[in-house]
Amino acid sequence: MALTGHARVAGVMGWPVGHSRSPRLHGFWLERHGIDGAYVPLPVPPERFAEAVRGLLAAGFAGANVTVPHKQAAFACCDVVEDSARRAGAVNTLVFRDGLIHGSNTDGWGFLESVREQAPGWEAAAGPAAVLGAGGAARAVATALLEAGAPRVVLCNRTAARAEVLARDLEAAGTGRIAVAADPPAALRGAALLVNTTSLGMAGQPPLELDLAPLPEGAVVADIVYVPLETPLLRSARARGLRAVDGLGMLLHQARPGFRDWFGVLPVVDAALRAHVAADIPLR
Ligand code: ATR
Repeated sequence: MALTGHARVAGVMGWPVGHSRSPRLHGFWLERHGIDGAYVPLPVPPERFAEAVRGLLAAGFAGANVTVPHKQAAFACCDVVEDSARRAGAVNTLVFRDGLIHGSNTDGWGFLESVREQAPGWEAAAGPAAVLGAGGAARAVATALLEAGAPRVVLCNRTAARAEVLARDLEAAGTGRIAVAADPPAALRGAALLVNTTSLGMAGQPPLELDLAPLPEGAVVADIVYVPLETPLLRSARARGLRAVDGLGMLLHQARPGFRDWFGVLPVVDAALRAHVAADIPLR
């Protein structure tokens, strides 16, 4: 739809940002809802991030998504930080309201929504979760699982010290349900959900070599990697008869609250959206 002088504008700040699927995703919703608005890529180098955020605010943007490597810098430059962002220590969604920069983090929520969508009937409270990795994505996923009532979250990371630090941080939030496993088999034993938050399995990276045998029958396996759509981990989960949740779902769901705040419509994730975004991503 052609823009008018009243168009609402948002975008995604990243460095680099050329690989981001967010413009394609938000563009689909803008078109579907006939909204007078635009969502654009915003390549911003790290040293100019704070200046760029203030510039977008000054230029009348409605807000922006924030991706690698800016999520922590975004946290630092907000006037108002929502609980979701404080818990994650990072911001992925900026909303400019009444001249103030509001920051939230929808990654953990998007992850849970994606698992609920792709593994119907799954509930966090039903059993322990094993989380591989200890970076920003692991923090968002583990926090969301604990909040949703997971009885136990077991972290496992190549660099064990990083998992210990993350576990201590999450303990400090008073959850008391977080543990660190020495190796993947120990993490997987008895887990109702396994989540890969590492970059392993991503195009250009080595696959995640993992024996899924210790997982119980009926476990759900989720990957937050979405390029390719079907990672080796998800393929071996399906081969074992386990339910597999891909990373594209998390990308699609985390985008919903920002779109609502900038453009005034809470959009849905459905097959047409998924097909539109997936058309730009290799299957294997
Ligand atoms: P993000 O913030 O996106 O989660 P990150 O902080 O760079 O990214 O974390 C990447 C995760 O992938 C880490 O848990 C990392 O393990 P280390 O903490 O040991 O670095 C994990 N990772 C990356 N490459 C890996 C590899 N080749 N083998 C095992 N784990 C790997």
